[in-house]
Amino acid sequence: QVADSLYILNNFAAKYFSEQLWNTDEGNNIALSYLEQRGFTKSILEKFQVGYSPNAYDAFTQAAINGQYNTDLLIKSGLTARNQHNDSLRDNYRGRIIFPVHNISGKVIGFGARVIGKAENTPKYINTPENEIYVKSKILYGTYFARQAIDKADECLLVEGYTDVVSLAQAGVENVVASGGTSLTTEQLRLIKKYTSNLTIIYDGDSAGVKAAMRGLDMALEEALNVRLVLIPDGEDPDSYVKKVGEKQFKKFIAEHKKDFILFEMEILLREAGNDIARKNDAVNKIAESISKINKAEDFTKQQEYIRQCASAMKIDEGGLTNLVNKYT
Ligand code: UTP
Ligand code: MN
Ligand code: MN
Ligand code: MN
Ligand code: MN
Repeated sequence: QVADSLYILNNFAAKYFSEQLWNTDEGNNIALSYLEQRGFTKSILEKFQVGYSPNAYDAFTQAAINGQYNTDLLIKSGLTARNQHNDSLRDNYRGRIIFPVHNISGKVIGFGARVIGKAENTPKYINTPENEIYVKSKILYGTYFARQAIDKADECLLVEGYTDVVSLAQAGVENVVASGGTSLTTEQLRLIKKYTSNLTIIYDGDSAGVKAAMRGLDMALEEALNVRLVLIPDGEDPDSYVKKVGEKQFKKFIAEHKKDFILFEMEILLREAGNDIARKNDAVNKIAESISKINKAEDFTKQQEYIRQCASAMKIDEGGLTNLVNKYT
């Protein structure tokens, strides 16, 4: 019941924000010009139903109240917030670009709202709060638009942000979803697994991106996904990088820099360990644990292959590594 009302309200809101972007002077001059200056085409913005929430105290909220939506629902949806001081209702996303978030059947379940320009004294994005239909741990932005392409490519690309998904789609890379910059959850991995077993994580090269990706690795292995990683050069993200080097170079970069994730993890850990015996021992244990997550019954050959490659790279005995892997199984 509440869920149905939320779907209807979100649909109303998405239409409202889209109307504001395309058919008002404020939307055109402030939001559309910003998006075009960033290189987004009109057709890709339309496809992803990007919109604009005007910079007015309660313009949307009043429109929704006129449309008979009740205030409890408005607050639950996150579209409206209550002013702590005078109890009045205000638009939560005012003056922001709106990225509607769709579920896999295409219904709008929430929104990501970005400030225009640099974020000063305010978060860059405001996201829908958890409610009956917006459950963050189960959502990957872009799944609705990507699912056919994921199926066809038999591969899912995972990026951090909204604009990465939209930019890559604009460049013709459509099998892309975004995690919202947080660590992956088992539910999100299972969602991907419905469409493909091949997951390629494309994160920023900064260490936060890499750490976030590593936290998801063992979970992904447990879900029997083949995980590969591409790190985008320092200071760039997929959106800025594809715009900098162009579509063709970007695709080439991805193809040439795709790394198997277990081997990548091993390289990082070994590099960090250096000549420190205790740390090298920790690294060996960590890798053994990761290898142990590969389901042996389903993928015996794959597990054997990793044991061979890792033992050789870490200069340790293959039988010893096998025993260690079995200890974790
Ligand atoms: P980024 O800071 O990398 O932003 O956060 P972005 O996606 O590159 O956005 P642009 O290109 O500057 O417009 C990555 C993702 O993390 C989440 C969003 O999902 C964002 O797309 N995030 C980031 C938030 O939810 N809140 C924030 O304040 C910042
Ligand atoms: Mn980032
Ligand atoms: Mn980052
Ligand atoms: Mn980014
Ligand atoms: Mn970006």
